[in-house]
Amino acid sequence: TRKWTEVEQLEKELADQTVLVRARIHNTRGKGKSAFLVLRQRTATVQAIMFADETTVSKGMVKYATQIPKESIVDVEGIVKVPEKSIDGCSQKDVELQVTGIRAVSRAAVLPFELVDAARSEEEVKAAAERGEVMPTVGQDLRLDNRFLDLRTPANQAIFKVQSAVCQLFKTTLLAEGFQEIHTPKLIAGASEGGAAVFRLDYMGVPACLAQSPQLYKQMAICADFNRVFEIGPVFRAEFSYTHRHLCEFMGLDLEMAIHEHYFEVLDVIEKLFGAIFNGLATTYAKELAVIASQYPFEIPTFKPLRLTFPEGIAMLKEGGYPDVDPMGDLNTELERALGRMVKEKYGTDFFILHRYPSAVRPFYTMPCSDDPAYSNSYDVFIRGEEIISGAQRVHDPELLTTRAIECGIPLPEIQSYIDSFKYGAPPHGGAGVGLERVVMLYCGLNNIRKTSMFPRDPKRLTP
Ligand code: 4AD
Repeated sequence: TRKWTEVEQLEKELADQTVLVRARIHNTRGKGKSAFLVLRQRTATVQAIMFADETTVSKGMVKYATQIPKESIVDVEGIVKVPEKSIDGCSQKDVELQVTGIRAVSRAAVLPFELVDAARSEEEVKAAAERGEVMPTVGQDLRLDNRFLDLRTPANQAIFKVQSAVCQLFKTTLLAEGFQEIHTPKLIAGASEGGAAVFRLDYMGVPACLAQSPQLYKQMAICADFNRVFEIGPVFRAEFSYTHRHLCEFMGLDLEMAIHEHYFEVLDVIEKLFGAIFNGLATTYAKELAVIASQYPFEIPTFKPLRLTFPEGIAMLKEGGYPDVDPMGDLNTELERALGRMVKEKYGTDFFILHRYPSAVRPFYTMPCSDDPAYSNSYDVFIRGEEIISGAQRVHDPELLTTRAIECGIPLPEIQSYIDSFKYGAPPHGGAGVGLERVVMLYCGLNNIRKTSMFPRDPKRLTP
């Protein structure tokens, strides 16, 4: 077999060597007997030149090449040359390919939009409009309808590298902390987070649901002496919220652990975990972050471990211009963002934990505070004032759990085996659920969760 070369490996050191490259036609310019092509392989680009001098290539070959549609996949054989001037606009600036042969492997149909249009930032388009220029761009829906194309843009390639990195850092950090990876069922008998937002389905003639979280099963794993567990898996929510931060299917990064004395043991793990994620992204993925920022400008978020109690948060909001905030109610998006801004100003961090929420606004399985059951051993975690995590110490007493489930209107038969799992000795434990798409969206300061979901599912979208 012949030796294939990756576009990103095309450097000066290969000068005068013949290489074989499989890439896409990113751009073509032909004039007379010559043609200039830009070849793209993922995010790497290189210029390829053709001259019809009848020794290297024929006139017919040049014509054939210029007629291959953009985005087609081609096999190109060529000689690596070092041009006099470096080539602007290509990632491989110091070399070009002198084409000796080209063949279309897979031809692209007419594109629904130009990839450069899809890659234009809203800021760029706005700035151009202010200068009186019209710069075409495509709306998010058209991009998502053709997501397989939209994903080819440099920013999207980088976003999903970052997404992969977050999962990797989540895994390696927790494994080092003594956690074990588990996989829990997604087809389950009853709702795991309350009945409203659940997808119901028929399971061999009996009613069933898609799991709204691994909540009940990760806790049963703790009862089964797994001690510290995590899971990366899909989470389904039949929520009719058509917002910038809700999906009907998202990736849950869940963790659950036995604790000795205090739910702060879980907060210690969360801080260590996000310290590692923030640091790992900023150092190892600086290139990807810069590519994302060139399409969607943002500043790298700052990380400091910071814990505020819910009452402290309420006090900050009251002083900061929200005197009517309900001290025992949940925080809406506007209040969370306002608190995020105040925290940033006062403590200089884009990351913080709010803990000791009122019991009334938390799920039935949440442990009430021992000193005041109106509050609970629970927490939310924020990046740039938006929630990325919620978690708590759990009730591990089956009687209290039964009472709480009845109070919250949960049908007991659906969760009987969950309650039973606490009957035979259950360690005190707590955990958290992280939304992967939200972490990437908020870390990168993006304005919509659909940008960080490869094929988003929302109330209006089930394809592609
Ligand atoms: O706040 P949630 O619903 O909490 C749970 O699922 C608990 N079982 C977690 C626990 O361990 N106690 O979801 C957890 C996280 C949220 O903080 C948010 O980041 C994300 O999941 N999330 C969503 N992401 C996208 N679309 C949605 N509809 C989401 N709902 C929650």
